[in-house]
Amino acid sequence: MFSPMPDISLLPDVPINVPSLSFEPLEQGSNYWIKDDFFPVAKAKQIANRCFNHKKWKLGYPYTKEKWPGMRVNKALKIEELNLVENWVKVMIGRENIWVEKLPGKSQVSSNTAQLVGKNESGALPHTDSRTLSRYAALIYLNLNPSVNSGTSFYRLRYPNGAAGGNMVCNPYDNLSDALKVQTLPPEAWYEDLRIENRFNRIILYKSNLVHSASGYFGESKRDKRLTAVFFWMCD
Ligand SMILES: [Fe+2]
Repeated sequence: MFSPMPDISLLPDVPINVPSLSFEPLEQGSNYWIKDDFFPVAKAKQIANRCFNHKKWKLGYPYTKEKWPGMRVNKALKIEELNLVENWVKVMIGRENIWVEKLPGKSQVSSNTAQLVGKNESGALPHTDSRTLSRYAALIYLNLNPSVNSGTSFYRLRYPNGAAGGNMVCNPYDNLSDALKVQTLPPEAWYEDLRIENRFNRIILYKSNLVHSASGYFGESKRDKRLTAVFFWMCD
């Protein structure tokens, strides 16, 4: 669906006077972080089961007018589990103070949320998270046997002449549509720069102004769909 990133030296220059994004080369430990086997395996299975067994899910796309896909439920992790995640995040990003943004009267961010999405409910959709609500995002993959190509992908803008543009929304813009002055872009407008595979009990943390998406979804029955715990933080 998305072109893989070709050899950059073979690509034409970015056209002049076109909307653009900032560029930061993807580098583990600099703008994204991965830790496998984050929880003890029995604890990770307990968390996954607890999430799967929730009875009251909120429905998103395609069942309601919400933009987020599938279904979700709050409080995926208990407080002591969440503390482990947040302490790890603080060490990785080198910040003492992180918080979940709450802005009165504005759209709220849903953090520490279990998200369950099947293969027929959505697909890869490159985006950035609102800079007003989030600076870093993390996911924990919670399927014991995920399909391939169902982790997280990062993208670079692809111009019609094939030139590779940026991958990041920066000040003063809040999100992609803001920065590029368009509501939507076709799949051909992106190169897939990096794909992180889905693996049970893997946590991935990234700067949420990088263009990213779920690489894909899977499963049809509730127990088989792609389950993740999702987090968003602001920081000083
Ligand atoms: Fe996102």
